[in-house]
Amino acid sequence: MASKPELYSVDDFESYAAETLPKMVRDYFNGGALDSITLHANQEAYRRFYIRPRVLRDVSTIDTKTRVFPDGNTIPFPCCVAPAAMQRMVHPDGEVATARACGAYGVVLGLSSFSTTSLEDVKREADRAREQTGRDGEGECVLQMYLFENRSTSEDLIRRAEEMGYKAIVLTVDTPYFGRRLTEIRNRFKVPPHLKMANFPDTLGVKTGSEHRTNDLHGDREGRSAQNPALPNKNDPTLTWDSIRYLKAITKLPIWLKGIMTVEDALLAVQHGADGIFVSNHGGRQLDQAPPTLRVLHDIAKAVDRRVPIHFDGGVRRGSDIFKALCLGASIVWIGRPALWAIAYDGEHGLRNALKILEDEFRACMGLAGCTSLEQLGPEYVMEVDAPAKL
Ligand code: FNR
Ligand code: LAC
Repeated sequence: MASKPELYSVDDFESYAAETLPKMVRDYFNGGALDSITLHANQEAYRRFYIRPRVLRDVSTIDTKTRVFPDGNTIPFPCCVAPAAMQRMVHPDGEVATARACGAYGVVLGLSSFSTTSLEDVKREADRAREQTGRDGEGECVLQMYLFENRSTSEDLIRRAEEMGYKAIVLTVDTPYFGRRLTEIRNRFKVPPHLKMANFPDTLGVKTGSEHRTNDLHGDREGRSAQNPALPNKNDPTLTWDSIRYLKAITKLPIWLKGIMTVEDALLAVQHGADGIFVSNHGGRQLDQAPPTLRVLHDIAKAVDRRVPIHFDGGVRRGSDIFKALCLGASIVWIGRPALWAIAYDGEHGLRNALKILEDEFRACMGLAGCTSLEQLGPEYVMEVDAPAKL
């Protein structure tokens, strides 16, 4: 077999994945909702910010280590892997590759509840890789979930996450319905029959959004299955801010809300006791024409004023993107598609490689901007311009 090309940036992984993945899979992973305005804007937003370098400041030692939980483990740099569904579609090891790479690199793994590997296996693999590589004391796992109309299914998942030592529940709040992704609809996207939603028994009939939508364009009626017409195992569109109280009553795990895009909602999240927020527009897969995440970040960070950590994702492809997001108020930055392209390239090793590239780029950016610690990063290191820089 021909050896794989050497890859030097996240864009290289993207190109490799685009050339090698089957169309249905590639379109599922790369796709955005409707016109993909938000998907593209997420990336373009970084090109509207230049970096203001400071010089003559002894940058011989640069510390990029940080913590996701105040009393938790360190991570080598402020970048972790965002939850993404059904990873065995891109590589036979799927979430096992992601878990092992995160464990070996010492970053936090965000596991999608729509995983094709059980949350127990994922946690064990992450821990094993951490021990094998001497990264013990670094990284952790958090579980992303939706609240289903059938609450007992969601409660079971939380219990299992607690038992396995997951460190937080990430409740995705931008998905009362799944976004309309035209490529998936045109391709009549289906999860390949050999793969399973491994966190749920088959009898529960849990399906990904894309499958709901391709069967029923409104998505909301689907899932009221004949087996259990009253309480379907699908995202509950009736959720309100009271749902945070419900979650906090049934678990002691920190609750982060993923999909916060306005100052108003960030303040409500703090008021309702969320332990963290995730500034995210789901990588442009939900509401098309939502603004790019980088553009809303600073206002949200100012309003939250360090009361809770601000997690951030959307369009991060370079170490300098991580730098800019931290300058504008993010505590931790997460990558979605780049991790998927990396496991498509070479499973665990592909993702370790991609994380190393991002860390090297981030560290170089810090040094060239005159920064030696994350505490220094602030809005004074970036300059916003009207027209995005040309590539
Ligand atoms: C996602 N994302 C996601 N989010 C979530 O809360 N639960 C999920 O199951 C998934 N699944 C998923 C699948 C795929 C294929 C993608 C690309 C994304 C969203 C993800 O966590 C993150 O918010 C975005 O991917 C960030 O944007 P970038 O880094 O992909 O630009
Ligand atoms: C997605 C869902 C599963 O973005 O969150 O495909």
